[in-house]
Amino acid sequence: MNATAETVTKSDAAVFDVERIRADFPILAERAHGQPLAYLDNAATSQKPQAVIDAVNHYYRHQNANVHRGVHLLSERATEVYEGARDRVRDFINARSSREVVFVRGTTEGINLVAHSLGRGFRKGDEVVISHMEHHSNIVPWQQLRDQLGIVLKVAPINQAGELDMEAFEALLGERTKLVSVTHVSNALGTINPVRRIIELAHGRDIPVLLDGAQAVPHAGVDVQALDCEFYVFSGHKMFAPTGIGVLYGKEALLERMPPFQGGGEMIKMVTFDRTVYAELPHKFEAGTPNIAGAAGLGAAVAYLNAVGMDRIAAYEHQLLTYGTEQLQQVPGARIIGTARDKAAVLSVVLDGVHAHDIGTIVDRKGVAVRSGHHCAMPVMQFFKVAATARASLAFYNTRDELDRFCDALRYAREVLV
Ligand SMILES: Cc1ncc(COP(=O)(O)O)c(C=O)c1O
Repeated sequence: MNATAETVTKSDAAVFDVERIRADFPILAERAHGQPLAYLDNAATSQKPQAVIDAVNHYYRHQNANVHRGVHLLSERATEVYEGARDRVRDFINARSSREVVFVRGTTEGINLVAHSLGRGFRKGDEVVISHMEHHSNIVPWQQLRDQLGIVLKVAPINQAGELDMEAFEALLGERTKLVSVTHVSNALGTINPVRRIIELAHGRDIPVLLDGAQAVPHAGVDVQALDCEFYVFSGHKMFAPTGIGVLYGKEALLERMPPFQGGGEMIKMVTFDRTVYAELPHKFEAGTPNIAGAAGLGAAVAYLNAVGMDRIAAYEHQLLTYGTEQLQQVPGARIIGTARDKAAVLSVVLDGVHAHDIGTIVDRKGVAVRSGHHCAMPVMQFFKVAATARASLAFYNTRDELDRFCDALRYAREVLV
């Protein structure tokens, strides 16, 4: 059964019926190597509920056309779906206006957009502050800007728990700081950063803040007005929507002042060979034919998440995290990398005497999908002096039983490899 406002009501808030949720995700019924699939790789990408699959299917069967251009019926339908999804996202993150919701390919493109647009105005010696726990997508674009423009990249350190050192962070903010760009939740460690405090400190010095929300939006309610950040970016595919669609939220006044990222169709009002007048927000930043089917899926994912309830999702995942942490602590030789006090449901593990890649392979044979590697956060691995970790990252359709199976598989890996 699909979760809708009718089927999941506030009255069952106390009992999180995970089996009912699981029934909404057809792929969870797959078997892996003859075992029931335990999908614990949600930080990499999430699975899709039937409602999202149906929305994409429906789009191609009944609504497919290009947006904004045609007056014919299908074009109107496609535009309605696309702009309707934008309005849903606006409400979901509580943006003031749909003009502040720019569709992009994903978090990576959202950060690159800001780096190439806002960043184009930076000068040699200007500074961008990031943290040691960033995903590569919030490191490399700024390094590229450093190489092109001579800006300085400052990196706020973390401690052994994987928490941001807030004193050191504050000390990095200065006259030349043009932007603070940090992750809301770390994909490699699960750390939830104190983003309100980060924003308060930055705003105290008139510094704009970009938050990478890729790992936050799927797991807890996000309110961009309450946060008061200048930019917030996230990926559809990590929040139960298709790949190739994501969101850059930006404060309207700032977006208005920023030059377009890419040029082409869709982002113009008028073109002659002499000059171009750009389209209004948010279209100014959406050059070319967009991912309309992806937007249809994203709109459906947002409706689905609203029906389940972000507060309930956050509470349930927190229970899973607590349980998984306790169980992992009892696995001989296992050590959790990332023990922040405020943590999302990410369990990055190293096992004495066993390489993370071997863990991944052995665990996979038991039907458990986890990710082994650096998780696109090599500086985090360097800080903890590990080559890689095996990471279980949870979603609200995961169960205690799946965590038990992960722990059993780790025990088995130790038995056969050490
Ligand atoms: C914290 C964080 N930022 C950015 C990204 C990049 O997201 P995408 O590949 O969807 O652009 C990821 C993906 O794992 C992530 O976890």
